Parts: sequence; structure tokens; C-alpha cells
Amino acid sequence: MDSTITPEFLTALPKAELHVHLEGTLEPELKLALATRNGVDIGQSTVAEVKATYAFDSLASFLAIYYPAMNVLVEEQDFYDLATAYFVRAAADGVRRVEAFFDPQAHTSRGVPLENVILGYSRAAADAASIGISADLILCFLRDMSAESALETITAALPFKEHFIGVGLDSDERDNPPSKFARVFAIARAEGLKLTMHCDIDQVGSIDNIREVLDVIGVDRIDHGTNIVENPALVELLLERGIGLTCCPVSNSFVTDDMKAAEMVDLLHRGVKVTLNSDDPAYFGAYAAGNYIALAEKAGLGLDDVVTLAKNSFEASWLSEPEKQSYLREIDEYVAASRA
Ligand code: ADE
Ligand code: ZN
Repeated sequence: MDSTITPEFLTALPKAELHVHLEGTLEPELKLALATRNGVDIGQSTVAEVKATYAFDSLASFLAIYYPAMNVLVEEQDFYDLATAYFVRAAADGVRRVEAFFDPQAHTSRGVPLENVILGYSRAAADAASIGISADLILCFLRDMSAESALETITAALPFKEHFIGVGLDSDERDNPPSKFARVFAIARAEGLKLTMHCDIDQVGSIDNIREVLDVIGVDRIDHGTNIVENPALVELLLERGIGLTCCPVSNSFVTDDMKAAEMVDLLHRGVKVTLNSDDPAYFGAYAAGNYIALAEKAGLGLDDVVTLAKNSFEASWLSEPEKQSYLREIDEYVAASRA
């Protein structure tokens, strides 16, 4: 890392977080507190015991731990408390804008009412303004559930449309290509919602899936997606459309054998709107700033690169143009002040 960019500089650098799963921000302490509050037996009673279960080396092995943990989330207040704890933590990492994922089917499939989920998260997002964070929600469909279940979910969620700005697709990508969800994404687009989809790292058919999200779905953003580096024609398409990638370096080092730093820097230097994000920070141990620090150290980034990454995070966001410009000015002022 360039000696002029310290961890403190990267932490306070104004940034947007565009790829964080609110359910992935459930820290062991809150998990245990909610288990007690709701009388749910999670099989562990100390933080050390919870952490001892965090053994994963692939997306599938991570998801096998991630979903059962959600049993502690039941009431609207639980969702509010989870998201609020995340926003407070994110603010300490210089995060000024959040576009956060949530997984309604992971809760409705357990009998939790959809309104507990949406209204709890949405109340927390509104209250985050009081700590200097502008926040909106992205409703994700679980791609290992059926297309019909996704359609039922959007139908149930549309009456709450004022509470989310876009839809996404997450969970296990294997054998669940983007085209499986073409209809529900077309409905979301017609409703004026923004579209994004996970294209997880090193999946079977990664390039085919990236081509589908661009050609068939017509997404506004891609989550992860660094395998695109293998296909220059698709990189060109990304550049033409100005589509951002929400990359997650620390998450990559858990669910694959590599951070994919070289791929991210290669794409960044080709002009792709690469952004850095935390994905599931309670599980991977790094919030937004931790991801900037990890990539800067691994790739030896200089000031220009880290400033571009921070600016990309606002440019790839779904804020209005004047709002983006205002945050970009804030970055310039921050850099100038820290150089003075
Ligand atoms: N759900 C939570 N984190 C995820 C990830 N990294 N990929 C796919 N689904 C997820
Ligand atoms: Zn993710």
C-alpha cells in the first residue's frame, strides 16, 4: 500500500456500500441476544461457540451456516435492530450511502410475515439519516428457490414498493441461471425498480451467466462479476453501458481460494466502475473500510486508485445525479484536507 494512504485515511474516506446483505451483518452477540429474546434454540450459547461454527470455504458451505442463523429474526423490532446495528457500524467506516440487500423468502418460508421484514428494515434505513447515512433497500430473490416463489414474493412485496428501490438475485448460483428469473425481473423493471444480480466468483458457467444478466435481464449493476475479465467483449459491453461491479475482496478470500485482487485492479484500470463492499461482514470479519484496506495492501494501491474506488461507489449507486455530485465533491474535499 502507498505509504500516504493509511488505514485511518481509508476508514474515513467517504464511501457508498452497494453490496451488503443485512442478514449477513448479524454479529454473534446480537444473534445470541435475539435467540434469548425470541426463545429460539440455536445450539450455541457463547460468542466463541457461535464463531466456532463459522467454517466455510465455498459459497455453498457459507450458505449452509448463514440461513439457519436467521431463525432468531422474528419480530419487526428484530429486523430494525439488526439493520440499525449495521448502519452504526458502517458509519464508523466512512459509509455515507447504503443500498442494502435483504432476503424476504428466507423469512417468509419460516412463517415470518413479510411486513415484519420490510417495515423493520425500512424504519432502520429511514432512521440512519440521523447518523449521516442515506440508505435504501434492494429486495433479493433466492435463486435456489423456484421462479414461481419469486413471482409470489414480488406480488406480495409490491404493496410495499415505496420501501425498496430495486431487486436482486442471490443464494446458490449453481444450476440457477439468470434466465430462470427473466419474468420476475421484467415485472420489477416495469414497476420502475432498479435491477441487479449476483454473478458469484468462479461459478460453473460464470461467463454464460454474466452474458445473460447483460443480454437477457438488462441489469443496472452486477454483484461480484469479476470473472468478466476473462471475456474482453463483455468488458467492452460493461464499459459502453457504464455498469458497475460490486466487488467484495474479503468475501472472495473466504468463498474461493483468492481475493481476486489482480482481476479487480485490471478491471479498474480499464475504466470499469469497480466498487468495494463487505457482502456478509459479520461472517467474513471485515466491514466496508476493511475491504478497502485489504485490497490496498494486497494490490499495493496508490491514492488515485483508492479515490477512484470511492468515487465509483457513488457513481454506481442509484442516487440522483445531484446527490452523486455532492458526494463526489465531499471526497475531493476530504482528500484535499488530508493532504494539507
Ligand atoms: N447471500 C449472502 N451472501 C451471498 C453471496 N456472497 N452470494 C450469494 N448469495 C449470498
Ligand atoms: Zn452477496
